[in-house]
Amino acid sequence: MKAILCSRNRHKARELERLLPGWSIETLDAEDYPPETGVTYYENARAKARFGLAAAGGGVHLLGEDSGIEVEALGGRPGIESARYAPEGAPAIARLLGELEGTDERAARYVCELVCITPGGDELRGTGTLSGRIARGPCGREGFGYDPVFVPDGEKRTVAELGDAWKERNSHRARAARALLAALGAALLLVASACGGHDPTQQRVLNAFFAQSPRAHTLGLRFPHEPGTAKCTVRDHGKALEATCATDISLVKPSRAVVTLTEAWNHGATAHTWFFFIRRDGSVESVVQEGSATPRQ
Ligand code: IMP
Repeated sequence: MKAILCSRNRHKARELERLLPGWSIETLDAEDYPPETGVTYYENARAKARFGLAAAGGGVHLLGEDSGIEVEALGGRPGIESARYAPEGAPAIARLLGELEGTDERAARYVCELVCITPGGDELRGTGTLSGRIARGPCGREGFGYDPVFVPDGEKRTVAELGDAWKERNSHRARAARALLAALGAALLLVASACGGHDPTQQRVLNAFFAQSPRAHTLGLRFPHEPGTAKCTVRDHGKALEATCATDISLVKPSRAVVTLTEAWNHGATAHTWFFFIRRDGSVESVVQEGSATPRQ
């Protein structure tokens, strides 16, 4: 799945790539990004995605992201102004620590809003927050921005010390990405699993489907494939045949997605496609199969 993140921040693109399994995310290196004039993160994220649609054209998922840090003692500042508060890194941290000097009130939270415009023109949204407090001084080398002074609730170390692997599971962006996946109807989880994957959530979604009917169960005997490969074997009269497969997803409308899963064997001479119509809550509305008959198990 190809997506364009409508931002110049490569840190965010790499973070999102790790959070959205199977997605390959490029940044949009435009010079003429519109100013962030929205009064909410959502408005800014949406404006970025729409700018990306105009600049890059359709046919690809466009992601708009806006995030910031809200500090309670500062009445929620810098908030949506976080990127403009001071140059990112040491200068922004120095200003923040300066403003908080002498106060024990250190509560803060990160907020992230993600907007996705699909190739079909549907608009989806995911929101995530991470609560914590501002440390007395910077510590740690990973992450970016305010990470060296942000200590999440329940932790003793800063995000920059906890590291990128921790961020992948727990950050405000990770939470927003998971919310966005849920909004995509969990169908993407199915796609990622079908060609290999270990994620327990993906597995649950698949297993729930495979348990639905004898036909779904038969399909489940072949999927997911060997993790990490696109290898696929079909059995014809007990004989194992090597096949190739491809999966794709398109959103028919915001409330429903269709996942297609094609298998071809006998050097491509024989093929069939399964269409899974998936509701937003991840349940399967219907399944249709077209093409050559399914080989016997
Ligand atoms: P924008 O979303 O590009 O407008 O920028 C948001 C600003 O919030 C960034 O420049 C950072 O200063 C801060 N920020 C957002 N997410 C993070 C994060 O994960 N770690 C540290 N700082 C962040």
